[in-house]
Amino acid sequence: MKTLLENISIFGKKSNILIEDQIISSLGEMPAQQALIFKLGGLFAIPGCIDPHTHIRDLGQSYKEDWNSASQAALAGGYTMVFDMPNTIPPTTTPEHLQLKRNAAKKATIHKKFFLGATNHNIHEVEKMLATRAEDIAGIKLFMAGSSSNEVVDKEEDLIAYARLAKQYDKVLAVHSENQACIQASERLHADKDHARWHNTIRSRECAILSTRQILDISAKVGNELYLVHTSLAEEIDMVRQHKAKGTRVWCEIMPHHLLLDESILETAGNYGKVNPPIRTARDNEALWEAIRDGTVDTLGSDHAPHSLEEKARPYAQAPSGFPGLETSLALMLNQVKLGNISLERVVELTSQAQNRIFRLGDRGLLKPGAPADLAIIDLDARHVVEPARFRSKAKYSPYQGMELWGKVMMTLVDGEIRYKAPEMA
Ligand code: DOR
Ligand code: ZN
Repeated sequence: MKTLLENISIFGKKSNILIEDQIISSLGEMPAQQALIFKLGGLFAIPGCIDPHTHIRDLGQSYKEDWNSASQAALAGGYTMVFDMPNTIPPTTTPEHLQLKRNAAKKATIHKKFFLGATNHNIHEVEKMLATRAEDIAGIKLFMAGSSSNEVVDKEEDLIAYARLAKQYDKVLAVHSENQACIQASERLHADKDHARWHNTIRSRECAILSTRQILDISAKVGNELYLVHTSLAEEIDMVRQHKAKGTRVWCEIMPHHLLLDESILETAGNYGKVNPPIRTARDNEALWEAIRDGTVDTLGSDHAPHSLEEKARPYAQAPSGFPGLETSLALMLNQVKLGNISLERVVELTSQAQNRIFRLGDRGLLKPGAPADLAIIDLDARHVVEPARFRSKAKYSPYQGMELWGKVMMTLVDGEIRYKAPEMA
């Protein structure tokens, strides 16, 4: 089976993409004999996005999302691979639970990898899973604070033990950095605050700064690869920048909501914008932009964290944190490309090429001859409105609701097969 994507832009140059047997066989001029041909003048091809940070749920929380609905959401958003976080029910903390997750994920129509969940008492279980050297293990995920049905690792000696284990098995240690004791104290202090507008005050910047300093210092000493997830604060960015300069092996992930939204959105979005770490301030947005420009930021994740509308409708304190991101993240960044705030090349670096390097994905995530044909075809001139009611995700809400964006995913291919086509392409 041959497919030819004709007259498409790749990194600023007009080209053709010939796909044979799931692989990009060549780029540039070519005869199109016996191929399924798509004329795509005006559109751009980029590597299918790889989301290093999603919560796909399934199993005990399939009412929030399952691998089917998540795959549909991912494909519509231009994603061809996702890494799933371990705070599922049951959590990915033992070999048995990992196997349950693998079975549930068989229905996925995208590529996937799993993070192993660290707790204060399961390091031997995590080691057993790592010792299998299974290809589908993305790394170890450790939460320094409670966030959403997760266990916490908050003792210094346990943090060091996990850093050493990650190093021993040459896997990244992905860390959710907020200090548990600090957050609990702050929650007690602000117990009277009953609206999401206070979320950034309650889960304060001081609490995140404390834990980020601690885990950076540990990783600098141990020499493991630290993958700092959803970095949200100017102070954290400064620390990461300094550590990178002195050779600490730290990777910095950010999310669109920490880059593009500030806490004022919570006045209208309410619990739909409640997320951990919280949406911060305009000053932090600017620090993240600067860090994108100077290379301190490595990857862009979505933190796709679906919950049900009923759960989100609860009073602030009882509503779970998180919102879906797979169907908005790339589009939000394409809008920034159109507005001239970032180049398409940098977006590609943040959404696939860096993941390829950090998580050692072989040729996956690269657009070049010989690589798997995982592609997103995008139209930078198409305009659309974020309409959560139409999401493929089961979580039909978003703090971006009603926002008008430039840039749209028109087609998504996985291993050379077209798995998503926008209605306009039919
Ligand atoms: O807001 C969040 N939601 N932050 C997390 O760390 C977890 C996530 C979830 O699983 O819902
Ligand atoms: Zn998360």
